Amino acid sequence: KYIDKTSFTWQTPSNIALVKYWGKSNPQIPKNASISFTLNNCHTITKIDFQKKEKSAIVDFDLFFEGKPKEEFKPKIAEFFKRIQEYCPYIFEYKMIINSENSFPHSSGIASSASGLSAIARCLMSLEQEINPNLSSEFINKKASFLARLGSGSASRSIEGPLVVWGNHPEIEGSSDLFGVQFPYKVHPIFENYQDAILLVDKGEKQVSSTVGHNLMHNHPYAESRFLQANENLGKMSKILQEGDIKNFVNLVESEALTLHAMMLTSNPYFILMKPNTLEIINKIWEYRQEKNSNICFTLDAGANVHVLYPENEKESVNQFIENELSKFCQKNQYICDTVGFGAKEI
Ligand code: PMV
Repeated sequence: KYIDKTSFTWQTPSNIALVKYWGKSNPQIPKNASISFTLNNCHTITKIDFQKKEKSAIVDFDLFFEGKPKEEFKPKIAEFFKRIQEYCPYIFEYKMIINSENSFPHSSGIASSASGLSAIARCLMSLEQEINPNLSSEFINKKASFLARLGSGSASRSIEGPLVVWGNHPEIEGSSDLFGVQFPYKVHPIFENYQDAILLVDKGEKQVSSTVGHNLMHNHPYAESRFLQANENLGKMSKILQEGDIKNFVNLVESEALTLHAMMLTSNPYFILMKPNTLEIINKIWEYRQEKNSNICFTLDAGANVHVLYPENEKESVNQFIENELSKFCQKNQYICDTVGFGAKEI
C-alpha cells in the first residue's frame, strides 16, 4: 500500500574501525571482517520527502546539502540508487527530495560517506516500513545496513552501536558479509563510553580515494596474508573487548592502523596518505603513553587525520594533553572530541 506523501528524518553516525576493512570483491563484499566503534557527535542528519508519482524508469531525486542544491554529490547517490533498486523497487514510484547536513565541518577530511549513505538507507527503510507495517525492527536494521553497504562498505557499520562487526567471521555469532551486526557479546566496562578525539591534520581532498585503494588490493603481494591477519585480529579483538585487556587493545588497534597504511605503501602504484604531522602526533602519543603510564592510542582512517582513543577515566588528562600538545599539529588547531555512540536515531 503506497502512501501519497510522507517524509522521514534520520540521524546516523560516523564510525571508526578498530580492525580495518581494506579490499573487497563485487558487490561490496569485504575480503575480511572488520569491527568499529560507532561515534556519537560526528553524524549526518538527512530528511527525505517522498512524493508519490507515476512509476518511471529512472530514479527521480533532488539533493540539497546544508540547504543548497548539490549537483556534484548527485552521481554518487544516483549510483547508490542503481545498486539498491532491485531491493527497493518503490524508489521508482516516488520523487525524493533529500536534505542532508553533517555535524562535522564540511571537507574536514572526515569521511562522510558512512554516515551520509547510512542516513539515506535508514530513511528508505522507514518508507518501506510505512508501506509494509509488519516488518520487524531486526529486519529493518539489517536491511538498512545491507543497503548502506552497497553505497559504501563501511556505511554498513553506521546503523547500530556501540560496536559493530561487518563480515562473516567464525567467532562472531550472526556475522555476515552482507550487513553489519552489533557485537553480540558483553563488553568489559573499561570500553564503555570510550573517547575518540579526531585531530584534523589535513582537511583537503584525499589524493587517492578509498575505491581506488580497495582495488589496489587485487594483485597486491601481501593481500592474502593481510586478509588472514585481519580475521585473526578480529578474533583477538573480540576476546580483548570481553576481557577488558586494554594493553593488548592499544597494541592491536595501532598495529591495525599502521598495517592499513602499510598496504598503501606497498601497493602498485604506491601512495602515502599520512602527512608529517600525522607522524609527529603518533610520536607524541607514544611518549605520553610511556611517561604517564597511560592507555591512550591512535588509529587512522584512509587519510592523514589521527583518531586518538582513550578510556573515559583518562578523559580530563588526555583532553588537556590534546589541547596543549597535539592541537598545534592540526590545521587551524582544530580537533573534534567524540565518544562512542549507539547508532541511528529518528528525529
Ligand atoms: O567504506 P569505504 O569503501 O570508504 O572504505 C573505508 C575503509 C577504511 O575506512 C579505511 C577502513 C574501515 O574499515 O573503515
